[in-house]
Amino acid sequence: MAEQESVPPGIDTRIPNMARMYDYALGGKDNFAADRAAVEKLFSFAPENKDVPRANRRFLGRAVRFAAAQGISQFLDLGTGLPSQGHVHEIVAEINPGAHVVYVDYDPVVVNHARALLVDSDSVTAVQADIRDAEGILAHPDVTRLIDFSRPVAVLFVAVLHGIPDRDDPAGIVRAFGKQMAPGSYLILSHLTRENHPPALVAQKEEIFAQTNAPVSYRSHAEILRMFNGFKLVEPGLTVVTRWRGDELDRKLDAAGQWSLGGVGRKE
Ligand SMILES: C[S@@+](CC[C@H](N)C(=O)[O-])C[C@H]1O[C@@H](n2cnc3c(N)ncnc32)[C@H](O)[C@@H]1O
Repeated sequence: MAEQESVPPGIDTRIPNMARMYDYALGGKDNFAADRAAVEKLFSFAPENKDVPRANRRFLGRAVRFAAAQGISQFLDLGTGLPSQGHVHEIVAEINPGAHVVYVDYDPVVVNHARALLVDSDSVTAVQADIRDAEGILAHPDVTRLIDFSRPVAVLFVAVLHGIPDRDDPAGIVRAFGKQMAPGSYLILSHLTRENHPPALVAQKEEIFAQTNAPVSYRSHAEILRMFNGFKLVEPGLTVVTRWRGDELDRKLDAAGQWSLGGVGRKE
């Protein structure tokens, strides 16, 4: 997104934005100078930081393929982001053509971007909403049109809950969606972690995110594990993302993978 291009109303390009920072880190073009500067600061701490988004996005791909292979044909992707490639509906379509996918993001740029990709699709849609409003999302006409909660569904909280502060009860948000999910449903979740990292380094990273539209909390393994309450983790449990059914390429991203924990839970 070149600066001279028109900026959608209500967008302050001076404040680094979580979706656009992630886009830049994945090699996308939907970002501004402030987003790029914040990401470059994160990258400057250690070379592996460049691969943190990629390692996470690859986890998302494997987890979505896993759920589709279990027969899941409806996906609710909360905190969709601006991925430059590998949208959930494309991944799912490889295994389960005709599956329904609803993207949810509170960022209008993300939602417009998703809608632009989805012209002519009656099985995929994008909704602008804040994941803290579970009730509103679950009752949204586009959600109820495409997702039947009496049947198994996969709900994704991938790299989004670290932007929810403790006072907004991230585990409670997962619980609110989990209550509506039928047995046999899957929770796909990843989260930035402070586990096994020097506290001073974590604090420096949090300080950079504190200047963005979505301050980030790097949480412990135990805190993230609690978000799976009510779900039974499938093998290998809650792990660094590159070790969740990763292949050789994921192993090469292991240093980056240490910054995100991911897992998939099944509602029994
Ligand atoms: C780091 S990106 C992750 C994108 C994608 N889930 C992935 O893992 O590749 C986080 C996305 O979540 C969105 N987001 C953050 N907080 C949100 C909230 N409270 N409600 C809805 N979307 C949110 C941001 O706008 C951004 O697009």
